[in-house]
Amino acid sequence: MLNSEIQGVKFDKLPNSSLDCIKISNKFCDALVSFQGAQVLEFTLKKFKKPILWLSKLNKFQAQTPIRGGIPLCFPWFGSHKMLSNHPSHGFARTQLWNLANITVNEFGHKIVFELTDNALTHTYWDYSFKLIMTINCGEKLELTLHIENLDKNNFDFDFAWHSYFPVNNIKQASLIGLYQMEYIDQLSSHNLKKQNEKIVVFQEEIDRIYPSTTGCFILMQDNTNKIYIESTARSVIVWNPWITKTKLLKDLENNSWQNFVCVESGQVNFQTVTLQSNHSIVFKLLIS
Ligand code: BG6
Repeated sequence: MLNSEIQGVKFDKLPNSSLDCIKISNKFCDALVSFQGAQVLEFTLKKFKKPILWLSKLNKFQAQTPIRGGIPLCFPWFGSHKMLSNHPSHGFARTQLWNLANITVNEFGHKIVFELTDNALTHTYWDYSFKLIMTINCGEKLELTLHIENLDKNNFDFDFAWHSYFPVNNIKQASLIGLYQMEYIDQLSSHNLKKQNEKIVVFQEEIDRIYPSTTGCFILMQDNTNKIYIESTARSVIVWNPWITKTKLLKDLENNSWQNFVCVESGQVNFQTVTLQSNHSIVFKLLIS
């Protein structure tokens, strides 16, 4: 393992893999971050001693293959491509190798900055020039900032989501606060628009819902006592758990793993697709604590 000159930073490879990663340790937290996807894979606040992200044990950490867990970034589309079925699910950002632009440390923790610019592969899927800057602050909270720059001569539209996987001991005892009275698209029922009439979202069966327009602030009750706070400047949220049958069909998931995670994904999708003008940029933030 290479020791960086910056205190609390180690460069390493992911387990049994050639993929590079960064291990962070400071007085607040421990974190594991992958260069592929600029993806936070693990984050543990020292005062609680429990991980606040879920990572599948079956990941093989192969190049250009999505890593199941942590916070993959979906960009520039969410889910299947609207027109081209051979394009990768959730876009290409999560399987691209990002460049490390900077790592710094101060009394508030570590800051890692990754960049991704358009290249021959991204142009085959999405023919625009762009730059993404993902800043990952590992401190008393986990704070992600995504800066999206349109370097193209044309305007472009994009959807994005931080596809966060959160751990729960028993999904049936978990619930999500913050979506009362919001409209959602039920991806399991002909994409019908429905209204959230229950004060909280509970998990008693497969769920796959897009809430396009929300406040961006949620509390995930992992059980009766443990809470995760999720705050984002992005307006949409996607709530997903594949439950028993679909879990068996998905890559890199143990058969019983559906009981132990839920995805609460913050982004801009559907009615909230972003149009970014040529030579303009936009910034979104996500805070998890
Ligand atoms: C969720 C979608 O965000 O991601 C689901 O709402 C999808 O429909 C899930 O199945 C997982 O996607 P993937 O490509 O990571 O297997």
